[in-house]
Amino acid sequence: MGTRAPGDPRVVDTAERARLDLIVAAPQRPLTLKIAAPGALVLERADGTVCPVHPLWLRERCKDAASMDLHTQQRLQDPSDFDLGLKITALSQPAAGTFRVRFSDGYEASFSAAELLEEAALADNSHDCPAPRLWDGKLAQFPRMRWRTEPSATELMSWLEAFLSYGFVIFEDVPTEPGTVLKVGSVFGFVRETNFGALFNVRSTPNATDLAYTAVSLDPHTDNPYRAPVPGIQLLHCLANETTGGLSTLVDGFAVAQALRADEPRSFEILSGTPVRFKYIDADTELTASAPPIELDVTGGLKAIHFSPRLDFVPLFSPDRLDAYYRARRSFDHRLRAADYEIRFLLKAGDLVMFDNCRLLHGRTGFDPAEGLRHLQGCYIDIDGPRSRYRVLRRQLGSAAGARRSA
Ligand code: OGA
Ligand code: ZN
Repeated sequence: MGTRAPGDPRVVDTAERARLDLIVAAPQRPLTLKIAAPGALVLERADGTVCPVHPLWLRERCKDAASMDLHTQQRLQDPSDFDLGLKITALSQPAAGTFRVRFSDGYEASFSAAELLEEAALADNSHDCPAPRLWDGKLAQFPRMRWRTEPSATELMSWLEAFLSYGFVIFEDVPTEPGTVLKVGSVFGFVRETNFGALFNVRSTPNATDLAYTAVSLDPHTDNPYRAPVPGIQLLHCLANETTGGLSTLVDGFAVAQALRADEPRSFEILSGTPVRFKYIDADTELTASAPPIELDVTGGLKAIHFSPRLDFVPLFSPDRLDAYYRARRSFDHRLRAADYEIRFLLKAGDLVMFDNCRLLHGRTGFDPAEGLRHLQGCYIDIDGPRSRYRVLRRQLGSAAGARRSA
């Protein structure tokens, strides 16, 4: 993993990045477990490289009633209390797919090879959910789905797969009864209430508390970067649109960030290493939060975009550092606003767009309120909801398929 210091995600060399990208792109890479020598269990990758399995890693995965509460699957023992010098003293394979292990603390346990391999794949940075499929302005087919209040499990699974891959879905035929956005949101996760309420009305009003509640155009932005944590997913449901303007826009921020990383690595490094303060203020609320415009995870992968040029305040760094920052921000912003990356569509009454507010940026073109009413209702849900739904459904569909096979 190179010489990267913890907490400094900027220094990721290209070779490492390429390796990580490869892993993300190929989550089904075959891995095998085998006994390499007495007391040595090893993980073998498709390319022939091997990684010995640490005895403590195995020991803390014991799944018997003495080690974990079988109902919650939560550990009963604090693994920090295990002997740091723990060894495997005996290792056998009593049946295909099962390993029997005796540890130097006298403990003996059986392990399912399949479960260990699943864990090992996660440790290798693979995703157990559909990986993001990055897109740009040439995206020809938008993920449009016909909304159904009671979708079948397979239908819901296809909605979730589309959302997790593209970072958004557009539902059509959502009843225009006010409040329906909350019902749709709760199918995918828990609604996140904010100072704007559980549900907010997006329409042009006098004395608006946010530019979204006017008729002006909104450039690509992520919502509420001044909040910690930021709302992960946003839903906007169109109840009425009698105007010819007010087109919705979306940009895949990860695609733009990846292009910036390739073309202007220095700009990318600056934007992922500069903490920017975002601020919201009204009569009852004053929120501030700090985040880099491009947030990376500990492996150097893209984690979130925080971008709203109407709300950002960079700290007073030295003129040189600010020079570089402003140049980098301009470059990122110009790409975000370029037609190359943006998709546009009109939300008509009954359409609802749900998007990942950590990955995508959204906006709208301006409209003329004299033409008629444009009324959207919005809400936020937590980012982890759809992944949880996906895993549970996969479990259910998997056992249904299993039951069908054994019937
Ligand atoms: C918002 C927003 C876009 C629109 O409410 O956060 O960006 O289409 N609205 O009005
Ligand atoms: Zn917005």
